[in-house]
Amino acid sequence: MWKVITKDFNKEDIINHGNKFLIGNGYMGYRGTLEEFGKNELVALNLPGVYDQYENKWREPVNAPNPLFTRVIYDGTELNPIVINPVFHQQTLDISCGLHKRESTFDINNKQITITSERFAHLTKYSLLVMKYSVKTNAHLNLVIETGIDGDVWDINGPHLNPYQIVNENNIVTFSTNTRECHIPIVVSETILCDFNAKISNIIDSHKLIRQINLNIEKDKTYTFYKFASVKHSLDEAEANMQAMNEINSASVLGYEKLFIENYLEWQKRWLVSDVELKGDEEAQFSLRYSIYHLLILNQKHSDKVSIPARGISGQTYKGAIFWDTEMFMLPFYLNTDLQTAKNLVKYRINTLDGARRKAMEYGFRGAFYAWESQETGDDACSHFNVTDVFTNRPLRTYFRDKQVHISADIVYGIWQTYLRINDLSLLINGGAEVIFECARFYYSYGYLKHDKNRFEILDVTGPDEYHERVNNNAFTNRMALETFNIAIKVSKLLKAENKESFDNLIKKLNYTEDLKRIEEVVKILYVPQPNNSGIIEQFDGYFKLEEVTVDEVKSRLIHPNEYWGGANGIAANTQIIKQADVVTLLYFFNDEYSSEIKKTNWDYYLKRTEHGSSLSASMYALVACENGNPEWAYPYFMKSATVDLTGKSKQYAGGIYIGGTHPAASGGAYMTAIYGFAGLKIIENQIKCFPHLPKNWESMSFKVILNNDLYKLDITKNNITIAKEDNSW
Ligand code: BGC
Repeated sequence: MWKVITKDFNKEDIINHGNKFLIGNGYMGYRGTLEEFGKNELVALNLPGVYDQYENKWREPVNAPNPLFTRVIYDGTELNPIVINPVFHQQTLDISCGLHKRESTFDINNKQITITSERFAHLTKYSLLVMKYSVKTNAHLNLVIETGIDGDVWDINGPHLNPYQIVNENNIVTFSTNTRECHIPIVVSETILCDFNAKISNIIDSHKLIRQINLNIEKDKTYTFYKFASVKHSLDEAEANMQAMNEINSASVLGYEKLFIENYLEWQKRWLVSDVELKGDEEAQFSLRYSIYHLLILNQKHSDKVSIPARGISGQTYKGAIFWDTEMFMLPFYLNTDLQTAKNLVKYRINTLDGARRKAMEYGFRGAFYAWESQETGDDACSHFNVTDVFTNRPLRTYFRDKQVHISADIVYGIWQTYLRINDLSLLINGGAEVIFECARFYYSYGYLKHDKNRFEILDVTGPDEYHERVNNNAFTNRMALETFNIAIKVSKLLKAENKESFDNLIKKLNYTEDLKRIEEVVKILYVPQPNNSGIIEQFDGYFKLEEVTVDEVKSRLIHPNEYWGGANGIAANTQIIKQADVVTLLYFFNDEYSSEIKKTNWDYYLKRTEHGSSLSASMYALVACENGNPEWAYPYFMKSATVDLTGKSKQYAGGIYIGGTHPAASGGAYMTAIYGFAGLKIIENQIKCFPHLPKNWESMSFKVILNNDLYKLDITKNNITIAKEDNSW
């Protein structure tokens, strides 16, 4: 099964379906809305990496004019399921090749009119969107098809675009504009090829250019047109115009079918490396493939100037910003299947190092303090008031931006994992080592040497559990800071041995000799909270003293359903109830440092105290349950991660603000659970090993992993593991 299908039309599903039926290619995302929809239905052609700020509202990624806008009018009635109930309606996403399809039949006085459409975002010609649109009726009648570019875009905090320059020449419609804040050029062009003759006139206003096609339709005959659209940005405007024009000219010469095949074959190539086949559990199989689909449409093969936002390419929520989600939850997928993307994600962090330096300086620290919510420059898009109080509507002070310091260590961890996998020193020489050294320097300047205890502590932080802010010695944060020091020391030794010149240059450039000495000293005494007599690791100093209470009890204390649980007065803040996996995240990432007894004890203890208020939480519980040899306990958390964008069961609005969208960290977490959890993959000293724990109804798992530029296929059954090198044709 490779298709997501819905046969009903309910107005309430429009927003969720926009996420669920999303197509894209990393360069752009196009929400799974119907062609006749507009901004009220949250249509969006989202451009990750192109950000804009309007007035003093928060910066967010830009949505481009919609070049696929098309609607059909019969006898004065718009054939749109919001206007008139269809007698048949089906929306499909074929995840094997990123193809969105819809079919709707409307009945007006026994005249049945069927609309079908298909669209895809080309995987390699990544600025190209292609659509095929057909109408057919059961009677001879006159119809009007309107198609063109709709520039009245949906924005959360817009408008972001300056007035359009609209050109319509030789059947090519072009909207050129630029963003208001940074004047980044954006050009959207489209053209159509019709397989019929008809009279076409144009309707134009400041936001739209629509061709009006008057069709005299014969009964049972299909009338089709093809649309080729190009979306260019960040180039010089004249260059963008020319490139867009050339792209749609070549596309229309090639034609829909050839482009479709080209794209289809590329998708097959990607699936060949990325697919995970499961036998014995169709639901899990489909949900896992759907998660992988989302990671595939988020690939960043084309650029090292952008990374993957926490809500992917599904819109503007979460400011289109990049969080720790990318390094800790998504990078593992790309390291196994798409090294180009993995390297670009790392390079994005190298490219934004100056932003991290500015942030460290802003708070009075040295080194690099990466943005909690990073955009194109690496400056922090997260505000000090990230939540609004539902009762007073006043902004609430939150400490994500200034205290969630584990972010720098997560990035160091990601760079090091990438280095270990690609085994290419140039990643470290060309910026990787500099980031690592600067992050280590940051933790040195952030921490405290407690002379009385002879230990180095990290105080006043917010760990992954955002409901408890400004705590001391968060176990996860401290262990990650220790890892940063360890990696910095390893990198310094490695560089010194392998490329003394680069090492010397870097130490000189950063004036790092003293820092290295200090780091080598404090690494020995950095305090990481250890299991107590009952085997439990205290999440942070004083956590055990907080009120012991159940999640349900805390929930029952809510006065308003959208109340924020954390912050100074949040209902969870003085209790042991946590937002998401925290100690359990530590146990997963450092799993070989803890016995299974400890992992089990902490899993049980913290599970009862976790709200799973973040979609990042479930996969960590699933992974640690697998580590403990309990795949059945892991299974529901795995399914929760893998299905979050299929069920749409996540918060959609916070107060009046839309916060929905896709959840790529959950998709990445589902992939990690399958591969590192159920299949138990470990790469030890450059060798592939497996310690599987398959759920009881899974007969087998097969998947591939790239290692040392070779592709390996792993076949796992209940009694057998085969690891074989594939031929070189991939
Ligand atoms: C979570 C963070 C996460 C962010 C973006 C928040 O709700 O608490 O851990 O990075 O969402 O997904």
